[in-house]
Amino acid sequence: MLGIWMPMLQTLIVASRDRNRLREILGVASRFGLGVVLARLGLERGSVDQQDAPDLPQRTRLAIEALGPTFVKLGQILATRGDLLPPAWITELEQLHSRAPTLPFEELRPAVEEALGEPPESAFASFDTQPLAAASMAQVHRATLHDGRPVVLKIRRPGIRPSMEADLRLIAQLASVTEQANAEVRRFAPAAMMRQLAAAVLEELDFTTEGRNADRLRADFAREHRVTVPVIHWEWTSETLLVMDYVEGVPPRDESTLRAAGIDPAAIAVLGADIVLDMVLVNGRFHGDPHPGNLLCLPGNRIALLDLGMIGHVSPRRREEFISFVQSFDQGDPARLADVLTIWSSVGEVPRERVQAAAERLIARHGGGRLVLSAMVTDFLSLMRDEGMTMPPDLLLLFKALVTIDGVLSGIQPDFDLSAAIRRSSLRIAATRLSPDHWMPLLQALAWEVARIGDDAPRLLRAAIRRLEAEPAPQRPQQDKHSTHSSDVRWISGAIIAGAALIAAAIYLQ
Ligand SMILES: Nc1ncnc2c1ncn2[C@@H]1O[C@H](COP(=O)(O)OP(=O)(O)O)[C@@H](O)[C@H]1O
Ligand SMILES: [Mg+2]
Repeated sequence: MLGIWMPMLQTLIVASRDRNRLREILGVASRFGLGVVLARLGLERGSVDQQDAPDLPQRTRLAIEALGPTFVKLGQILATRGDLLPPAWITELEQLHSRAPTLPFEELRPAVEEALGEPPESAFASFDTQPLAAASMAQVHRATLHDGRPVVLKIRRPGIRPSMEADLRLIAQLASVTEQANAEVRRFAPAAMMRQLAAAVLEELDFTTEGRNADRLRADFAREHRVTVPVIHWEWTSETLLVMDYVEGVPPRDESTLRAAGIDPAAIAVLGADIVLDMVLVNGRFHGDPHPGNLLCLPGNRIALLDLGMIGHVSPRRREEFISFVQSFDQGDPARLADVLTIWSSVGEVPRERVQAAAERLIARHGGGRLVLSAMVTDFLSLMRDEGMTMPPDLLLLFKALVTIDGVLSGIQPDFDLSAAIRRSSLRIAATRLSPDHWMPLLQALAWEVARIGDDAPRLLRAAIRRLEAEPAPQRPQQDKHSTHSSDVRWISGAIIAGAALIAAAIYLQ
C-alpha cells in the first residue's frame, strides 16, 4: 500500500528529519484503510469513484486519534465546518478525544525539575506522583504550596513541541499538494485553515498563553462572584508547566451527580447561559471548548472555568451581527436574517435571491418561539454547505462553542431554553449600548462593513429605514431591569445600522 502512495507523495519536498513521520502517517492511514480518502484528496492514484464505506468517517476519526494531538486539533477545526462537511462527518469528528496513555511520573520528572529549578518535593509542601488527569498534551498532578494552598501542575508531555511542529510542516505540505490536485479541497481554503491550525497549536503548546487567558477571563468576571477561574501561580509557571489553584468541583455531566453534590442543576443552567452570553455579547472573549471536562460546578451553585488554551474573540461588528442573527429567529424575520447571511457568506458569489430563500427556509423551520440552538446551527450550516456559502472561521468557533454549551446545559436541565436566556440578557446589552464608548467603535466597524459591501449599501440602508419606521421608539431603560423588551435592542441596533449605513453611503458617494 505504502508503495503505491509514495510516488505521488514523493512530489512533496520533505526534509529528511520529517520523512520518518510521513511514513508513520501513511502507515496509520493504511492501517485504517483510508486509501479512498487519500485518492479523493489526489494523494493516491487509486479509484476515486468507489463508494464511500459507511464506516469511513469513523475509521478516519480513529486514524486521527492514533496520529496524535496535531491531527486531533485539525480534526476539531474540521468538526466546526458544518458549512463544508456532511453531517455524518461532523458527528464523528465531534467525538475526537485527545486520549493518551498515562505516563509514570518518573518520565515527566526531568522536565518538571527543569521547569521548577528544583524537585517538586522541595518546591511544594506535598506533591502527588499519581496523576489527576492525562490528556494528549499534558498530564495534571496535585500538589500543596508551602502555605497550605492546594494547587495542580499541568505538565506538558516531554518532546511534544518538536513532534507537533513536524506535523504542522507536513500537514501544510499535504494541504498545498491536495489544493492543487483537487478543486473540492480549494473550497476549504486550506491555506487559511493551516494558519488557524498553526496558531491554535502554537498557542496551546505554550502554557503561559493559557495562564494569560485565565488572567483575562478572571478579570472579565471580576464582578461575577458565581464564576471562578483558578488563580495562576506565575512564580512556578512557564512554557511547559502551568501551576494553578486546585478547584474541587463536579463536571456538569448530568443532573443527578450535581444534585448528589448539593448543587442545583437549574441554577447552574441559568448561570451557564449568563456566562456564555456575557462572554460572547459583553466581554467579546469566550471559552473555545466549554465541554463538561473543562467546567467544574462548585457548592453555592458556582462554576469554575478550566482549560483556557483556546479563547475565541468576538469583534464588536460580529457581536452586532450575531445579535441580529439570533433576533431574526426570535422575531421570525427572514429579511433581517438574509442581511446577516449576506455579510457572512462570501459576498457576491451567491445571488441575493438564494440567500433570501435560504433565510426563509431557516426561519420557517426555527423561527418564532423556542429556539433549539443545536438543531438550528446544524441545519443552518448544512444549508450553507448546500448553497455553497462558506462562513468565516471565527464565527464557526463561536457557533461550535454555543452548541457545546447548549448541549451541556440541556444535559443537566432538559427543558432549558437558551433562547429565553438570550432574551433576558439582551437587556444588559441594551444598557451597554447606550454608552458612547460602546457606540463609536461599533459605528466605525459597521461603516467599514457597509462600505466594504459597496453595492449593497443602499439596500441595507433602505432595509434599516424600513425597520426603523416599523418599530416604536425605545423606552428609557427602567430601574427594573427585567422590564426592558428585546424590541428596544432591536430598535437600537436598527438605529446603529442606519447610522452606519448613512456614514458609509456618504463615504461611498464621495
Ligand atoms: N485547577 C484545576 N483544579 C482541578 N482539576 C483540574 C484543574 N485543572 C485541570 N484539572 C483536571 O484536569 C483535567 C485536564 O485539564 P485540562 O486543563 O482540561 O487539560 P487538557 O488541555 O489536557 O484537556 C480537567 O478536565 C480536570 O479534570
Ligand atoms: Mg480539557
